[in-house]
Amino acid sequence: MTYSLVLQATAFHSTGPESFEILENRLFCINRDGTLGAVLAPGDPACGPCLDESKRAGIFTRLGKGQFLLPGFIDTHVHAPQWAQVGKALDTNLPVWLKNYTFPLEAAYKNLDFAQEIYADLVDTLTANGTTTAQYFGSVHPAPNKLLADICAAKGQRAFIGKVVMDLPDQCPDYYRDESAETALADTEEFLRYCAGLNRTVPQDIVGVITPRFIPACSDEALRGLGALAAEYGAPVQSHCSEGDWEHAFVMARTGLRDTKAHLRYGLLTQRTTLAHSVYLNDDDAVLYKKYGANIAHSPLSNIFFAGSVCPVRRRLDQGVIVSLATDISAGYTPSMFDAMRQAVLSSRILTSGTDPAAPAARRGSPGSAIDFRHAFYMATLGGATALRIKAGQFKKGNAFDAFVFDCNAPYSTAAAMKATRLRICCKK
Ligand code: GUN
Ligand code: FE
Repeated sequence: MTYSLVLQATAFHSTGPESFEILENRLFCINRDGTLGAVLAPGDPACGPCLDESKRAGIFTRLGKGQFLLPGFIDTHVHAPQWAQVGKALDTNLPVWLKNYTFPLEAAYKNLDFAQEIYADLVDTLTANGTTTAQYFGSVHPAPNKLLADICAAKGQRAFIGKVVMDLPDQCPDYYRDESAETALADTEEFLRYCAGLNRTVPQDIVGVITPRFIPACSDEALRGLGALAAEYGAPVQSHCSEGDWEHAFVMARTGLRDTKAHLRYGLLTQRTTLAHSVYLNDDDAVLYKKYGANIAHSPLSNIFFAGSVCPVRRRLDQGVIVSLATDISAGYTPSMFDAMRQAVLSSRILTSGTDPAAPAARRGSPGSAIDFRHAFYMATLGGATALRIKAGQFKKGNAFDAFVFDCNAPYSTAAAMKATRLRICCKK
């Protein structure tokens, strides 16, 4: 038999921002390279021979009652070094948080023993939470970024990783910045090559990403150079865009352009670009995202701390912009994409209804902004795959079989608790 595993299971996957499919009692036939070779529905004449052969070959398995298959989550914006401060240091605003807590922490990863300990724990934690693909910001220094790539490669996580570029002396501290635009570009290029080499040795993707931290921290020379590298290598790009009033106004004052247009001018708005937050886009900016194929990494939890408002993702989805979902560790304090999905729904409900009880209901919010679990599940899976241009996020022939088991009977599962409650209610009757 050519397959490495045949799995009988019921699965759920997203088929679009407002739709999903239940694949009931299918045979998932997984190739030796980890891709899906076939998905057979009951009644398909190929099922009988497939079952017989896979059982004979000892590669057949079936999920138990209450166990379901879900596509692995795709977290498109994680700051790997910030894992060490997750859930802490959220008592201030973005520029102060960067200066007082985050830059000193990220600089500490020059110590590779520290980097090894934290990065290994992060990758284990994310995968344990069902995140089979993550797009990471690393730090400025080359060595810990290579270590992060090695760890993802060894642990089997599909990873997009960026060496962070921040070279402007008046915005970045002496102890934590690129020496010059020239060294920033050389280190970025070397890291792209390093990841490309590593990628040839693993079944999943390990991809280097062009990563200007955000326009305020980078010189024009660095930004232009990174845009040129993105074109030369066809490499993905990630950054922060229109996150808050402070950042948005800073970019406007320096470049005379809105943040989206500035990214475009530097060659950083491409079909492989992920821009975290993107809260303060106007509709013209959104049109540019759509035209160039860039995606929004929606980070609902961190937006509560640092953005100062809610990103109108329903509107952006309706406009045809690609929206993915992200934890934004550590401005977002949870490693769980289930939490991120819940938060996305909550934030959208608040946007729709408004927040000020003193305002009349009719003027309190932005009606029509609510999303539900369908949009959230889309953003966490298929939206992320579309954003990163990977064949994953859905159980389709030819896609990577990136998946996890959702077990309703797992100890402490709230799904199990709900079932128990229902049983108890039934028994009382
Ligand atoms: N803008 C620039 N750097 C960062 C960061 O690390 N986190 C967030 N949320 N915004 C940023
Ligand atoms: Fe971020």
